[in-house]
Amino acid sequence: TASADLDALIAKMTVEEKAGQVTLMAAAWAGGAANALNPTSPSKSSFQQQLADVRRGRVGGVFNGNGAEMARQMQLVATGKSRLKIPLIFAADVIHGFRTVFPMPLAEAGSFDPALAEQTARIAAVEATAAGIDWNFAPMVDIARDQRWGRGIEGAGEDVLLGRIMADARVRGFQGRSGLTADDAMAACAKHFAAYGAAEGGLDYNSVDVSERTLREIYFPSFQAALDAQAATVMASFNELSGVPATANHWLLTDILRRQWKFDGLVVSDYTGDFELIDHGFAADEREAAKLAFLAGVDMSMQSGFYIRHLPDLVKAGDVPVARLDEAVRRVLALKAKLGLFDDPFRRIDPKREKQRVRTPQHLEVARDAARRSIVLLKNEKDLLPLPRSGKRIALIGPFVQGQRELIGPWNVYGTDADAVDLLSGMRAVASDPQSIVAVDGSGIEKPIAGGIEAAVSAAHNADIVILAIGESQKMSGEAQSRTDITIPVAQMALAEAVAQTGKPIVVLLRHGRALALHGAVKEAPAILATWFLGSMSGMAIADILFGVASPSARLPCSFPYESGQEPLYYAHKNTGRPNPPGPRQDYKTHYREAPNAALYPFGHGLTYGEIVYTKLDMGTGRLTAGGELTVVASIRNSGRQAAIEVAQLYVQDITASITRPVRELKAFQRITLKPGETQQVRFTLKRDDLTFLGQDMQPTVEPGKFRLWVAPSAQAEGVSDMFVLA
Ligand code: IFM
Repeated sequence: TASADLDALIAKMTVEEKAGQVTLMAAAWAGGAANALNPTSPSKSSFQQQLADVRRGRVGGVFNGNGAEMARQMQLVATGKSRLKIPLIFAADVIHGFRTVFPMPLAEAGSFDPALAEQTARIAAVEATAAGIDWNFAPMVDIARDQRWGRGIEGAGEDVLLGRIMADARVRGFQGRSGLTADDAMAACAKHFAAYGAAEGGLDYNSVDVSERTLREIYFPSFQAALDAQAATVMASFNELSGVPATANHWLLTDILRRQWKFDGLVVSDYTGDFELIDHGFAADEREAAKLAFLAGVDMSMQSGFYIRHLPDLVKAGDVPVARLDEAVRRVLALKAKLGLFDDPFRRIDPKREKQRVRTPQHLEVARDAARRSIVLLKNEKDLLPLPRSGKRIALIGPFVQGQRELIGPWNVYGTDADAVDLLSGMRAVASDPQSIVAVDGSGIEKPIAGGIEAAVSAAHNADIVILAIGESQKMSGEAQSRTDITIPVAQMALAEAVAQTGKPIVVLLRHGRALALHGAVKEAPAILATWFLGSMSGMAIADILFGVASPSARLPCSFPYESGQEPLYYAHKNTGRPNPPGPRQDYKTHYREAPNAALYPFGHGLTYGEIVYTKLDMGTGRLTAGGELTVVASIRNSGRQAAIEVAQLYVQDITASITRPVRELKAFQRITLKPGETQQVRFTLKRDDLTFLGQDMQPTVEPGKFRLWVAPSAQAEGVSDMFVLA
């Protein structure tokens, strides 16, 4: 559909029809309410009412619907019975897989493998588009540096570079590489713009007050990466930003996004974000809220119904220029055109294809692989892992060991736990001797169960090895799930302490949506694996790692603190004027009384079943001259007896600059496979651009001087390091 056709279509539209196009509503599933929580919905009660709204041109798109058949019925009305026959756009939250569920995005970021993230996003798109979905409310590209914030599960963690790389990969995966008209491509949405992850105190929806520098250096780059990858849409965030809610923030949505970054796609509000301007204390009433959001740059309003209710009058009264309405409508129509909906509104709606394309054996195999590659081996004393596949009696203990629950993780609208493999089933499927494995819950997630500890202790006594699967329920992380204390619930800690008393070797499997503060018997266990929420193939993937069918290869995308009170804790912090040097802590230097100035397990940490040693660093002359490059070669050896995948990480510290710089910043990483006994030289090329930062005038600058460089296995490890000079 050419742009002239869109203009011609817009010329035919009434103001009400235009307001309808910029209105997005949650689907009213047959028999159910669109959203009982939302009294402002124009189509609040039933599917029939929603169809009536579609017929009247009062709705431009529908989200989180119920599959291809529902979409077909709605699209038939839109394209057959509405006056202008404009197709609907169908959106959904497809955050980590559709019916095949992949690891939660934070876990998958730990693969440090953008090809994997692109592959799982691609499969999610193949499945979701077969169910009629054109537009995905993902990826979430919010940097999250405070583990109390539960929403971190949807992003790529604390680091800017990893955030950018994963944003790019996920957008490419969702949108595909053959253009948005492909019937298996869905438009991506970079969300939540901006700094949603910087909520004060890690409290979801809380105020955000960060400097323009922090926005530009930390919170913007992943959005820029998503847009460079051609993300078609952006979602405004719920939070206020230094006094101006993002949903009504003209500077953010227009000056930055449109004028500086030249984004010409669609901006959508988050669910009732415009309605919330009233509670923010920013808009006096609905009409003003609609006006402020719309004029700031929100093209499409999600779920409040404010645009359909107020834009016609706002335009008629001259409070909103009709040109602005036309601009927003054009963006909605242009997105529909890009997705090929004018040519064939049913291109992604095919109930037969829906059945064929979801949960295929190939998709499940990728889910198993992705899950394996998201598991982080935090600790493995005396090579307790991998376990032999037979000859040992294994007791699986904890509330996460059996039953189809707590597997797929938060924010998965279309997958179900019932389709996922639990730990006991996975272990029995992979073990050579399934009958040697017994399972006991021992405790509920937050409450003890009668006789649970006794049963668990007795199972531990009768076993050679205990696998203790403990952690957070899926309700404890995700949207609106902030915690003050990011520890394992008390009931489970009691179980862990009792089981540890048996003296049996314990492998802890953490189930979690965020980094946790580990204490007591859990912290002291000889082996610990971070297993997050891994999706459809959880149990199989964990069994593969435990039995050494696959070697652990993921790294932490977020730092594990010693104590909750250290949050926000991230490796790329500043040095301060009073850093505490290594060794015994000094008073009147930066420190907490109760915890080290460090992470228990830092960003980038993750062990393998090999034994990795960084032996040598070569930087040639150690000078990076104008127009030149610095070639960095690190020698890395696997002196263990098992093959290993190592993620070599290159960090830099700019020692002195006109703006203070972080103690370390990740600049590059590489995954390499090392056979037992093998040494490899890993080569990185550092350019001047890699050392750019924003000067005092907020313009990109590179300042000559000394830099420290590390190639290391984590943000806290020494690895191999040396100084270089930027001439
Ligand atoms: O896409 C989400 C968003 O991330 C949080 N609020 C609801 C939206 C639609 O479901």
